[in-house]
Amino acid sequence: MNRLDGKVALISGGARGIGAETARRMAAAGATVVIGDVLADSLRQTASEISNAGGKAYALALDVTSEPAWSAAVAEATKQFGKLDILVNNAGMFLGKDLMDATMEDWNRLVAVNLMGVWLGTKVCAPALAETGRSSRHGSAIVNVSSVAGIVGDKVDPLYSMTKGGVTLFTKSAALSFAGKEWKIRVNSIHPGVIDTDMGAQTFAVRAKQAARDVERIRSATMKAHPIGRLGVAEDIALAIVFLASDDAGFMTGSAMVVDGGLTAQ
Ligand code: NAI
Repeated sequence: MNRLDGKVALISGGARGIGAETARRMAAAGATVVIGDVLADSLRQTASEISNAGGKAYALALDVTSEPAWSAAVAEATKQFGKLDILVNNAGMFLGKDLMDATMEDWNRLVAVNLMGVWLGTKVCAPALAETGRSSRHGSAIVNVSSVAGIVGDKVDPLYSMTKGGVTLFTKSAALSFAGKEWKIRVNSIHPGVIDTDMGAQTFAVRAKQAARDVERIRSATMKAHPIGRLGVAEDIALAIVFLASDDAGFMTGSAMVVDGGLTAQ
């Protein structure tokens, strides 16, 4: 179950957090993982950890806001490993500003990373994914990392929510578009609750500042807001991404998988 033997996966934002854990889990499931990020040191470290544990990992510099960088990444992945089966559009950023305080500069950066990066990755990787999909029973797969903030509103960071909402519907639209072209590329999104990563810590710091409370109180309140009684960890999301990318999810496309400890069930 959930095996990825022989598959080649490209994961954006794979240096740390959810992306790095996804790379570890995919490699453990038998995939060759190509991880791209702007954080060169963490990227190298994550790739060597995976290789030292017996997995196949390849690190490359990738800024998701650059179309030439995406083209170079796909060219390198297919040159090194012959094909591409899986794309995980994971790279993302949190802004942490009220809509009345955000500037045009904030907006341009946020939209470039969280929205344009997902579209560019999809566009540039699609030909290679379609090629692989032709000879695969369940096709190739794209998993877009959205958020619970992409299905319900977020008063702390409305612009982040706006970008993640865009990822949710772009996922469905891309799934329909590829199916209409008879390209066998399944496209699904994943919607994490609050996950204990660097970004998770950023959200606590922003909420603490806004509420004039200390970070530990906010952390504990956030934990309690998740009916399951704990925060998410990167592994919770990585395992779900492995499933969506695997042939076990062969009948899933255009779907939105919520992994949030019950946060949005309330
Ligand atoms: P993180 O901040 O730990 O990792 C994000 C990674 O993306 C970093 O390695 C960063 O360098 C990379 N990145 C940022 N801009 C980039 C760019 N222009 N090009 C290439 N890489 C870039 O965050 P985390 O928590 O691992 O988040 C991963 C994804 O999950 C993001 O899309 C985030 O929005 C989403 N998410 C996270 C939640 C959380 O509570 N941590 C909740 C819901 C969604």
